[in-house]
Amino acid sequence: MSILVNQQQFHLTNGRISYVFHVLKNGQLGHLYFGKALRPDRDYTHFEKDHNPTPASCHTYEDDPAFSLETIRQEYPVYGKGDFREPAILMSQEQKSVANFVYKSHDILEGKPALSGLPATYAASSEAETVLIVLEDVYSGVELHLSYTIFANEAVIARNARVVNKSTTALSVERMMSLSIDLPEAEMDLLHLSGTWSRERHVKTRALEQGIQSISSIRGASSHHHNPFLALKAKDATEHTGEVFGFQFVYSGNFLAQTEVDHYGVARVQLGIHPIGFEWNLAPGEAFQSPEAVMVYSGEGLNGMSQTFHQLYRNHLISEQWKTAERPVLINNWEATYFDFNEEKLIHFAKEAKDLGVELFVLDDGWFGKRNDDRTSLGDWFVDREKLPEGIASLASKVKQAGLKFGLWFEPEMISVDSDLYSEHPEWAVGVPEEHYTLGRNQRVLDYTNPIVVDTIFERMRAIIQATDLDYIKWDMNRNITEAYSAGLDHQGEFFHRYILGVYDLYERLTSEFPNVLFESCAGGGGRFDPALLYYAPQAWASDDTDAVERLKIQYGTSMAYPIYSIGSHVSAVPNHQTLRSTPLSLRADVAYFGTFGYELDPSRLSSEEQEIVKEQIRRYKSFRPLVRDGSFIRLQSPFEGNETAWMIVSSDQKEAIVGWYKASSTPNPRTNQVLKLKGLHHDSAYQVESSTYYGDELMQNGLPLPIEFNGANQAFAERGGDFQSKVFYLKALY
Ligand code: DGJ
Repeated sequence: MSILVNQQQFHLTNGRISYVFHVLKNGQLGHLYFGKALRPDRDYTHFEKDHNPTPASCHTYEDDPAFSLETIRQEYPVYGKGDFREPAILMSQEQKSVANFVYKSHDILEGKPALSGLPATYAASSEAETVLIVLEDVYSGVELHLSYTIFANEAVIARNARVVNKSTTALSVERMMSLSIDLPEAEMDLLHLSGTWSRERHVKTRALEQGIQSISSIRGASSHHHNPFLALKAKDATEHTGEVFGFQFVYSGNFLAQTEVDHYGVARVQLGIHPIGFEWNLAPGEAFQSPEAVMVYSGEGLNGMSQTFHQLYRNHLISEQWKTAERPVLINNWEATYFDFNEEKLIHFAKEAKDLGVELFVLDDGWFGKRNDDRTSLGDWFVDREKLPEGIASLASKVKQAGLKFGLWFEPEMISVDSDLYSEHPEWAVGVPEEHYTLGRNQRVLDYTNPIVVDTIFERMRAIIQATDLDYIKWDMNRNITEAYSAGLDHQGEFFHRYILGVYDLYERLTSEFPNVLFESCAGGGGRFDPALLYYAPQAWASDDTDAVERLKIQYGTSMAYPIYSIGSHVSAVPNHQTLRSTPLSLRADVAYFGTFGYELDPSRLSSEEQEIVKEQIRRYKSFRPLVRDGSFIRLQSPFEGNETAWMIVSSDQKEAIVGWYKASSTPNPRTNQVLKLKGLHHDSAYQVESSTYYGDELMQNGLPLPIEFNGANQAFAERGGDFQSKVFYLKALY
């Protein structure tokens, strides 16, 4: 890996990818190339001309009509100097909003500097190299620091930007993208992950067209509705072949992820904090740091892109503490009891779960204040003695005596109007004082821009963590932000970002003081499943929808960008509480195996036969667990394209694999000799699959035989049939 500087060309390469940009003749930064690695020892300045189609309406120099910012590909474009596409930065100072950032200096560093107050990917000095480019606005002296990191082993560039007010007057920043890139070809499809509560991260694909297409959130959270991720794929790219560019924003608040195709078919991609609701004020000497954005290049289709994201997050985002640790099999009482429990019931529940092989008992919502429904007590993080007369520490110790770890649910960012905290501090709720406020799930949002609020919640959580010797926290967040206003702020345009900084501050303090507590993030299911939170909480509750058929889509979509061992996936009771669908216990586990596994049901309601099945499922998952954590996840068949879904995980030495195959509804008179073509195995290895042996090339080229399906005439020997079929195969290389 290296960052090569030649004249004023910067070439970041690691043998897999190259990212090349240079200083243009007007001093701004021009983009030259991002893609498969190019030879290092060459000047690529001619790429500027090769992709610069024709003189445009405005040009910078009288004697050079070809030099037009309207057509030149750029690194961090501004508005007002001849480029009529959307800029990366907009700022104003004393009525003036034109900027012209020109190259001033650069510095090359080993490793990757941390971003103060913001979660970001990290790397040791041998694992990455970073170039920091300093640009200066010729009109004001304001500086822009652009940071580019290339990793040694991943096909990834990480970027961020920082603006420093070196001028003598106040500056207002109205738009600041973390990443902007102009790709030369727009003949691509835009793929993104969208949905809503209970059907998060569905894969959506549409063609890029001239004009702007974007996904975004202005809800105060990254949202159920759009994930801060997009990919551009070549028209002929598939899951396994072809060029794909993946982009992701490492941030949990309002975001914009946008493509803009110009009149010559150049595609500008930008990711950053959404400009709506954002205006940051900088006094002379102050600086604003953008969050990080990462971009991936894959020449091996969507799977190649996903595996790179998985590797990046596993190696450089999830904390050292949790990247290799085994995630416990958990049971959560939410769907089993909702708010209706007492100590006796919970202890019984935990003991039964222990007998099944569960390792962690999680007590969900309802253990604090006087919370018997969702109208009350958020903020009062003190045990409810009506439900738990002997206290939370006593419950924790009994659960631990039963041989389980103990976890608790919190919703630290919220306050109920019916709470002691609200009676004492109504001004701590977000909103315009004395004005009408909007409720969401009957609750209000705490003002995390106020450090005293964060301190108070920290102290309350710390007391509970210490008293219970807590092993796990489910950090929930069940509503979006309205009436964004804090009396403590001079500039309300800073509210949303300062709110998220407050959230990160609390996460940082809790994870630093209690590194052994495993955090799972949650936001009404998967409403804030983003890379930034993975930095603190290595697993995330993917969705409140635990229906196995729906989960196929949610988990398939989520795997586009996130390692599957970050995806909280549980077996729940039937009929499913979200869809009312009844699926077999086998299907529910076969889907949930491909994530961090757990149960969300009352074990005492299982029949003795079901209990034996669950014991076997847990035993099986434990044997798969290292593969789920370390293996390469490969999508084989998409639930968005048909009735069947398939995926697999292969160990890095190709000696082991598990394959999941699913069929949602039955087919009349189906073929009975169906096979599934696998990927990623070693061609010459012989694999044991149940009682048969196949070579890797057979399994990949001819396929793995699936069980014989019932077709009306083969009743005596059919192995499957009806709706909701599934099978998980374990493959072990014999040599
Ligand atoms: C929403 C979460 O997604 C659920 O799993 C559960 O924790 C409830 N909140 C509790 O109120």
